[in-house]
Amino acid sequence: MFSMQPQWNQESENECLILGVHKPGNPLGGVLAVCDKAMDQQISQLIKSGDISISKKSITLIHTLGKMKTKRIILVGLGRENQVTEEDWKEALGMAFRKVKELRLSQVSIDLDSLSGANVPVERAAHLLGEVYMLSLYTFDGYKQKNVKAPVEIKDITLLSESGRAALLQENAHLGAIYGSGTNYARTLVNLPPNILTATKMAEFAKELADQYQFELEVLNKEDMERLGMGALLAVNQGSVEPPAMIVLKYQGKSEWKDVIGLVGKGITYDTGGYSLKPRESMVGMKTDMGGAAAVLGAMRIIGELKPEQNVVAVIASTDNVVSAEAFKPDDVIVSLSGKTIEVLNTDAEGRLVLADAVTYAKQHGADYLVDVATLTGGVIVALGNEMTGVFTNNDAFLGKVKSASEKSGEPMWQLPITAKDRERVRGSKIADLNNSPGREGHAIMGAAFVGEFAEDTPWVHLDIAGTSVSKKSTSLHTHGATGVMARTLAQLVVDFTMRK
Ligand code: BES
Ligand code: ZN
Ligand code: ZN
Repeated sequence: MFSMQPQWNQESENECLILGVHKPGNPLGGVLAVCDKAMDQQISQLIKSGDISISKKSITLIHTLGKMKTKRIILVGLGRENQVTEEDWKEALGMAFRKVKELRLSQVSIDLDSLSGANVPVERAAHLLGEVYMLSLYTFDGYKQKNVKAPVEIKDITLLSESGRAALLQENAHLGAIYGSGTNYARTLVNLPPNILTATKMAEFAKELADQYQFELEVLNKEDMERLGMGALLAVNQGSVEPPAMIVLKYQGKSEWKDVIGLVGKGITYDTGGYSLKPRESMVGMKTDMGGAAAVLGAMRIIGELKPEQNVVAVIASTDNVVSAEAFKPDDVIVSLSGKTIEVLNTDAEGRLVLADAVTYAKQHGADYLVDVATLTGGVIVALGNEMTGVFTNNDAFLGKVKSASEKSGEPMWQLPITAKDRERVRGSKIADLNNSPGREGHAIMGAAFVGEFAEDTPWVHLDIAGTSVSKKSTSLHTHGATGVMARTLAQLVVDFTMRK
């Protein structure tokens, strides 16, 4: 996929060359200068006249009209060199990749030196490039009968750099592509319709990963759950004709099974709300209520590729949440795997119920640290919008690790509190240990506090991705629909993880 060409000159044959241009329009160097010379200084003149924009996130295509062996050049505007953020950089490069795709070219050369700068050093640029290559070209073709031309795949990417670090840059691009590809895998799971992606199908996807990467796999069926006492997951599944699945994947990267990171995902394949039925407008889109499970499986794919020296147990609780004469009801009292009893006040607060059993099960499998990921509440969207994942914790040191992974991955998150008074509210049932819906006030916090009751003293971070797992708009880094959010952050957390007890 990626190859390096340390010595580039105007005799090098290319379908297309991508170059970065920064403000201020300083004298052009490197590959850019060679091109400018070959083009009789037209590039610098067009930059001066503004025909080639150097503003951030703008791209300009020029044809070389036989003056060079390179047929086309895409100039990527990056704005002021010392102000460009990684996000802007990625979006700008994503626009360039999209342009190459639109031109139906299978080969492109990319000059890393002109694209890098103070804020995005060349080694980092290589990693981000690999990621952007995957993210920007992702599409979910779905089930349309094909009457459009199949896209041309960009198979051959030549990286140019005079930095003398060819091997490192190529490796970084490859690593970035692994992170991007795990994200795309999560996106596809989220985009699949709910009649296709059932809990059983989710378990099949997990089995494929287990076979590919030699993970240990356990899939509990309904009878196993009854035997073990997973009353919370079973209650949510009670009205369904689709069997539930509790899916466990184990990756052992250390000689002993200790310091285990538990990644727990909400895998509701469709959320009608159950008897606390959703209004018709809010039901559409609820196929994406397994975004947490998708993030965990996406992360496991990255982990399987990178094989870090860490131990990971992934636990996914999967079922749909539907109505029937047999479905669970508001006012039911259920017994969770932990033994804690729960008064159900709202069957639409089902995510926290399935997570309760999944978190307990992850602990039973030896998890010493827990991160759960879930499209848990509409409340987090009201609080934080669609750009920030809501994050909650019982352990600030562990949260620090998660936040640093999130910064590296470009997946922002914002912490919301859980106070002692919040915990009192989820414990406020007259007839059971907990209630699953203490009211609308701060309900993202209520969801988190409820799950926290099952994490108990284990360092735990809860990620509410209801607002970030799908996007109504399309950017150069993702199409409309699933974003694959948190697959990269979870994998990065595992790769970077060290923690003193
Ligand atoms: N799956 C929803 C949360 C959700 C809402 C995800 C919007 C994505 C977009 C969740 O199960 C739910 O229904 N939560 C309720 C909780 C309430 C009943 C306490 C909600 O957010 O309204
Ligand atoms: Zn719900
Ligand atoms: Zn839900």
